[in-house]
Amino acid sequence: MTRKNGSDPKQPWAAAGNTQPHAVRGWSGRGGGQVGYLSPPTMWRATTVQACGLWPFAAGSGAPMTGVPLGQHLMTGATVCGDPLSWFTRARYISNPSLFMLGMPGLGKSTLVNRMLIGLAATGVVPLVLGDLKPDYADTVRALGGQVISIGRGTGGINVLDPGAMGQAAARIGGEAGRALLAEAHGRVLNMVAALVTIVRGRPMDDHEQSVLSAALHLLRERTSGGRPVLLPDLVAVLAEGPDRVRAVTLDRGETARYRDAVDPLHRSLVGLLDGPLGSTFASATSTRIDPAAPAVCIDISRIGESDTQLTAAAMLAAWSDGLGTVAASHALADAGLAPRRWYFTVLDELWRPLRAATGIVDRIDALTRLNRSLGLADAKITHTLKDAEALGSEADKAKARGFVERAGMVVCAGLPRTEMEELGRVVGLSEREISLVSSWSSPPGWASAGDHEEPPGRGKFLIKVGGRPGIPIRVAITDAERHLHDTNTRWTPTRTARHDEGTH
Ligand SMILES: Nc1ncnc2c1ncn2[C@@H]1O[C@H](COP(=O)(O)OP(=O)(O)OP(=O)(O)O)[C@@H](O)[C@H]1O
Ligand SMILES: [Mg+2]
Repeated sequence: MTRKNGSDPKQPWAAAGNTQPHAVRGWSGRGGGQVGYLSPPTMWRATTVQACGLWPFAAGSGAPMTGVPLGQHLMTGATVCGDPLSWFTRARYISNPSLFMLGMPGLGKSTLVNRMLIGLAATGVVPLVLGDLKPDYADTVRALGGQVISIGRGTGGINVLDPGAMGQAAARIGGEAGRALLAEAHGRVLNMVAALVTIVRGRPMDDHEQSVLSAALHLLRERTSGGRPVLLPDLVAVLAEGPDRVRAVTLDRGETARYRDAVDPLHRSLVGLLDGPLGSTFASATSTRIDPAAPAVCIDISRIGESDTQLTAAAMLAAWSDGLGTVAASHALADAGLAPRRWYFTVLDELWRPLRAATGIVDRIDALTRLNRSLGLADAKITHTLKDAEALGSEADKAKARGFVERAGMVVCAGLPRTEMEELGRVVGLSEREISLVSSWSSPPGWASAGDHEEPPGRGKFLIKVGGRPGIPIRVAITDAERHLHDTNTRWTPTRTARHDEGTH
């Protein structure tokens, strides 16, 4: 049993629980007639089995208690627990195990998701951080005994034509189920090559090009089945050769010129891809495969330069595709009785980066992430604002990006300006009070008169929305261990060099 507020009964607000003493007008502490402070009664938290036997004045919590302990209710101080997986499986509060988090930079979004990751890992769920840009999660994953894979120019790559874990699982499973998994792997590879072409071109691929690509990939797989992994240069070689099977989908009617007209733009894009900035990372064999038995996995892409928009977007998508493929493979093996069932929690942080990279990329993300529920996978998508979707080219793209928020079972907002909140309110339904509360968290810190430690007022404050229910405002207090594992402001902390010390003494 734990005492919820206060380790010191004389000053119960001073410790873990309600941090604010309640001001009560008219109550006179020692002097008469002024505003005094009434200590909130000491509260203890326990299971219903223990509490009712020990103490008759038990009250249920007004806040959800299923899932990872996130923080305290901003108004009542009650503990609030939650994560998309537990709210979907155990509590059944949400119909889709997906979380969408929005908020201004630096307010603690990644820190809160790190906490979910640690809490879920403790229950046996496997966290997969697919494309860690800062890195925000690598240290946590290492601390959990997980695998950290580095991707970037010269540091490691992903072969986008490799069916990865899905290919291996299909071979183990065999029969009809194995073939079905292989067909799914084919779809994933096709989607990923289409994503790379979209990024290189800055616009989506045509439908008929997709058919050509599909036919070429099928042919390649048959030719090299069981042998060495196929690579992007092999795909280019097939297009150059023009075998009948690929020609058939171009309606060339036996004329080479018609075939060339149909495939040249795709051929050119793929050659450009190989020779361009993305080639070295995606055209050779995968450097380190995801370990299907790891307790947590992080694909670290933080070595890719901030300004390298195309490579960042491509690496993120390749990491998602590879990671989600691993999940599909794991479930297929469990279905076939060949491996224990494992649940996964994927983190797609900084979603705005790939969204901005190219028109049409939203379709690719949509195709990658739509099947979460059937995949036995909970996910967290994190971005700054809904405006990230507004920056997309077409209306259709914007609508699809808004669909990510609409489909999310759980929407969590850190501080956002009022205009953004009003916009978000049109998608998830927010009351005026909720809008005012969250927009007050987006105000900048005050001018610190003496020191340099003014925290932004919204740091660590979040509003959790589920469907049409009233939002739950929470305050997250981080522990030293968490601060140590994830401090994105380290580069802003002065280092004490010998010269610096001399100068300041
Ligand atoms: N609840 C909290 N209390 C105090 N400090 C916090 C809290 N949450 C986060 N921080 C600190 O604030 C900094 C920024 O946090 P974090 O990186 O999680 O923000 P973010 O919202 O993910 O930012 P971005 O949008 O730039 O990714 C970190 O140094 C972290 O240690
Ligand atoms: Mg972050």
